[in-house]
Amino acid sequence: MDRLPFPEGFLWGAASSGPQTEGAFGKKHESIMDAWFRKAPQDFYDGIGPELASDFYHQYREDFQRMKACGFNSFRTSIQWTRLILDFETGEPDPEGVRFYRDVIETAKDLGIRLILNLHHFDLPEALLEKYGGWENRNCAELFALYARTAFELFGEDIDLWTTFNEPMVIAEAGYLGGFHWPKYRNRGKAAVAVMVHTALASALAVKEYKNMRLHGKIGTILNLTPAIPRSQSAEDLEAAEITETFFNRFFIDAAVKGTISEKFIGLLKRGGIAPMWKEEDLSLLKEGTVDFIGLNYYHPLRVKARESELECEEWTPYLYFEEYGKPGVRINPYRGWEILPECLYDIAMTVKNDYGNLPWYVSENGMGVENEARFRDAQGMIQDRYRIDFYTEHLTALHKAIEEGSNCFGFHAWTAMDCWSWNNAYKNRYGFISVDPLTEKRAFKASASWYKALAENNALILP
Ligand code: BG6
Repeated sequence: MDRLPFPEGFLWGAASSGPQTEGAFGKKHESIMDAWFRKAPQDFYDGIGPELASDFYHQYREDFQRMKACGFNSFRTSIQWTRLILDFETGEPDPEGVRFYRDVIETAKDLGIRLILNLHHFDLPEALLEKYGGWENRNCAELFALYARTAFELFGEDIDLWTTFNEPMVIAEAGYLGGFHWPKYRNRGKAAVAVMVHTALASALAVKEYKNMRLHGKIGTILNLTPAIPRSQSAEDLEAAEITETFFNRFFIDAAVKGTISEKFIGLLKRGGIAPMWKEEDLSLLKEGTVDFIGLNYYHPLRVKARESELECEEWTPYLYFEEYGKPGVRINPYRGWEILPECLYDIAMTVKNDYGNLPWYVSENGMGVENEARFRDAQGMIQDRYRIDFYTEHLTALHKAIEEGSNCFGFHAWTAMDCWSWNNAYKNRYGFISVDPLTEKRAFKASASWYKALAENNALILP
């Protein structure tokens, strides 16, 4: 048996988010996800919306006990802007939201679970989309900083790890390029760039607020660095991969860690005739708002090739320069359509080490979503999710190698603790160590729960 030890004090746990777990109970405002479901419920798998989610709003005390039983020493969730804030223009909090989050924080603390609090997980208030056009408008960055300040004032003494955004690239990509999240625009490249710039700026402004308040904790952001792998070593395919990296990966990590926008990114915009939509002052703000650490979500790589046919679209979009490439014969998770390639987690870890000053970082999401897990129940009724254990084992082995080689990784968070609602995919693919029946909200441990507990308690991966 091989024993792969992890650094002392390593964070073991899982991530989730407010909108995906709490349910809409008691919220005074709608997020864009709530509004999307109200306007187009047919977009959601099995017609299930965010009203109940996994009822964390009522069950968080028991849920934290369950997480403890999975060996967690930490957990990330997000505050819902639409629950905490009563008045978006002033940042005035809603006492009911304050009471809820305060109790969540206390409960986790009492059980020795370190809470990482995130501020934005795809859930912009619908009112800000309607009034200002959402993240396309710089004003939302200022309003986000007000909200962040309120959160720091309320909970800054109790929380020592904060993050500003989860996967801001997905906001631009899904909402303005790919059309699969509200407001469902396709190939609006210029708007997508505005969203990217304003969310990067919003994050920097929040970081700046936090630092000005001289609280005791650290603040970071959570990004998805989906490695772009070229189909071949031809100049055209290499360029396609380089453009994908520049646009989809490096923009946010450069902005968050170095406080810069790269020449390559600016060159790409020039090539598309897009004028930079930031002011000199915004560049200084990015510099003043660099993070203390980053969280990186990794699920799958993205294989790309040079375009083989011209893309017909009215506006500029980065998809003009590359297209996805489905390599024959690779391992795919068929339920999600995502390639399984654990060694990319090693590459990501080394990118942080070599290109970003070996900044402290952690795996903030990694996991495998599987449909219809009920078919894997054994005679005792427990879901035997061996595939999930194997998936994590392979990814942790790759991560361990990078840590051995000096990558400054301080934790691993699975996606997720309990099965949760996942935007338009709703409850299609299940990711948890704990199953949740979306009709009864009943919970049950899967086999992976006790496996994870042993992993966390040993602070080591034991390979058979
Ligand atoms: C992550 C998101 O990228 O993917 C989560 O941060 C999401 O919010 C997860 O739930 C899984 O997505 P899906 O679509 O497979 O359920």
